[in-house]
Amino acid sequence: MQTDDEIRASDSRGTAAEDVLDPALRDTEFNPSRRQPEPQPGALRRKAAELTVVVPTYSEHDNVTELVRRLTNVLAGVDWEVVFVDDDSPDGTYKLAKSIGATDPHIRCIRRVGRRGLSGACIEGILSSSAPVVAVMDADLQHDESLLPQMLQEIRQGADLVIASRYTAGGSVEQGFSGIRRWGSEMATRMAQTLMGTQVSDPMSGFFMIRREAIEDHAKALAGEGYKLLMDILWTAGKSLKIVELSYRFRERRSGESKLDALVTVDYLGLMFSKLFGGVLPVRFLMFGAVGVSGIAVHLLVLSFAHSTLHLNFAWSQFSAVMVAMTWNFVINNQLTYRDARLTGWPFVGGLLMFYLACSIGSVGNVGVASWIYSFHATAWLAGLAGAIIGSVFNYAISSALIWKRK
Ligand code: GDD
Ligand code: MN
Repeated sequence: MQTDDEIRASDSRGTAAEDVLDPALRDTEFNPSRRQPEPQPGALRRKAAELTVVVPTYSEHDNVTELVRRLTNVLAGVDWEVVFVDDDSPDGTYKLAKSIGATDPHIRCIRRVGRRGLSGACIEGILSSSAPVVAVMDADLQHDESLLPQMLQEIRQGADLVIASRYTAGGSVEQGFSGIRRWGSEMATRMAQTLMGTQVSDPMSGFFMIRREAIEDHAKALAGEGYKLLMDILWTAGKSLKIVELSYRFRERRSGESKLDALVTVDYLGLMFSKLFGGVLPVRFLMFGAVGVSGIAVHLLVLSFAHSTLHLNFAWSQFSAVMVAMTWNFVINNQLTYRDARLTGWPFVGGLLMFYLACSIGSVGNVGVASWIYSFHATAWLAGLAGAIIGSVFNYAISSALIWKRK
């Protein structure tokens, strides 16, 4: 058995570091008097907080200081920390958060590079925590931080998930939402309640607290895409959680502007379908597929217009229809499916050309597979469908990997 000191001495023997050491330190004889006082392992480490507040940020520089001030006030009696998860904001939100964190151990910041997405950011913040309880809350002060101690109290008393709701008695939206968003939010809420059979009044809330284990257990099953993390959690784990709702008033944004637009409703529909299929198909693939279906409609419209109205011959009509439909698919996917990697300027042109190419190769594969299956005496529609699916999967793979690749 080696003693601790022997291990230390033998560790330092024969390393390149000896060559640069002060000659007085270079002798191999171990001298206890020169030993640096070592901190007791763990002595400097603070034990994990009880509560981690995860705050996703994208360009929230002007809200960070005020949010930290308010959290510090309201959580005075609690062992807490905040984790800002910033997607490399152009306004340098992460720099500010880290500079506050340099002197205040309550503040941490994860800077994510080349990625975007609210749900993904929240999940990453949650999984970075060792605290037994985590909360998710926006940076823009629309969520009422003074609710946090009460939420924590509910968890301590046995709740697994506490949702801050805008829609229970006493909760409200005030000026917090534009008309269209509000309508979309209400529709989506009703739909979610019906589909999931849940009583939760605000399944779209961005403000909630949960036992961390409940997320850790289900982390792999979460879609992680889009904006609706709570929905995702409810779909995935809802049945097994003891849920409490508390009401609050959704305030107006303090500074900056909302990063979410009416398109979040589309994301939301995608998430819902993905979950209906058991989460096997990614939300993005479903959107890509839906755009493809809309492309068929465009194709048929252009075909009939070119053939019946412009009296082009069939081949030219069909050719125009193919070109317009491909262009349509590209533009809509650029606006919707891949809007977090949207192409503009020359990359848009390059992407479009690449998309034409991918579609051409995809359709060769499509015809090949369909004919092959048809040769086994399959019905024509089945062979055709199989071909179409293979072609779409190919287009999707090329699109995700080569055209709209995220940096
Ligand atoms: N890291 C990261 N990445 N953060 C993001 C991103 C992103 O791509 N997009 C938005 N955020 C951050 C914002 O900086 C903000 O702190 C928070 O997420 C919410 O974004 P807002 O842009 O303020 O959303 P909102 O106010 O329109 O919507 C809120 O209310 C909805 C209610 O239906 C959010 O709380 C939604 O989650 C909530 O569903
Ligand atoms: Mn907001």
